[in-house]
Amino acid sequence: MTEVRPPAAPSAALWERDEELAAIAEAVDVLCADRHSPGTLLVLRGEAGLGKTALLAETRRIAEQRGCTVWSARGGETLRTVPFNVVRQLLQPALVSMLPEEAREYLGDWYGIAGPALGIADPGDGQADPQGVCEGLVAAVRRLARRDWPLVLLIDDAHWADQETLYWLAAFAERLADLSVLVVVARRPGEITGVSARHLDAVAEAAGRPVTSLSALTPRRRPD
Ligand SMILES: Nc1ncnc2c1ncn2[C@@H]1O[C@H](COP(=O)(O)OP(=O)(O)O)[C@@H](O)[C@H]1O
Ligand SMILES: [Mg+2]
Repeated sequence: MTEVRPPAAPSAALWERDEELAAIAEAVDVLCADRHSPGTLLVLRGEAGLGKTALLAETRRIAEQRGCTVWSARGGETLRTVPFNVVRQLLQPALVSMLPEEAREYLGDWYGIAGPALGIADPGDGQADPQGVCEGLVAAVRRLARRDWPLVLLIDDAHWADQETLYWLAAFAERLADLSVLVVVARRPGEITGVSARHLDAVAEAAGRPVTSLSALTPRRRPD
């Protein structure tokens, strides 16, 4: 029997974000409609103070109201050089709830390679191959997204995410076509250059839809 989920109620908390909220609610609907629906990645771009974090909070509310599991993480200006910091934060709820054997099962053959990046396996000797770690994480998150469907991943301040997370996110985003998961990424337009900027651009490109650029809110008129 198909489970009937109530539609998300609109929120009066955010002004002038009807279009953005409609796109978010629609993406949540697509996710909840079918385990086999394609994944969606939305990128919200806006300068500081334009309401990115507020929109992510609203996304969480809408998604939780529809019965989704929501995991979130954020980039930190001072933590940009900590490898896998953001992806580790994102997967924390799953990782802490798993027994070591279960984690081993979810990472499968990738356990020895991606496990250390997630802080659940000993690094052992030698340098891990970054490409291998990334592939392992892509595979692990795909399994988790199937296990925890309907799953929503929120990444705030992605412009401050560590390079390794952005590399993973770009690779993950490229393979969303056959994975029913919703990823919402918020970022400022500038802030980063070089490799991280290229990874973040690759994330947007893989999303296959235009980035949502947030416009400044109209200053509220005083009542007459
Ligand atoms: N659409 C909106 N309507 C009303 N208040 C908003 C809206 N968007 C953001 N705010 C408020 O503006 C402030 C800054 O928003 P925030 O989400 O922190 O911005 P950002 O994450 O882009 O820096 C917060 O106090 C937030 O509650
Ligand atoms: Mg913010």
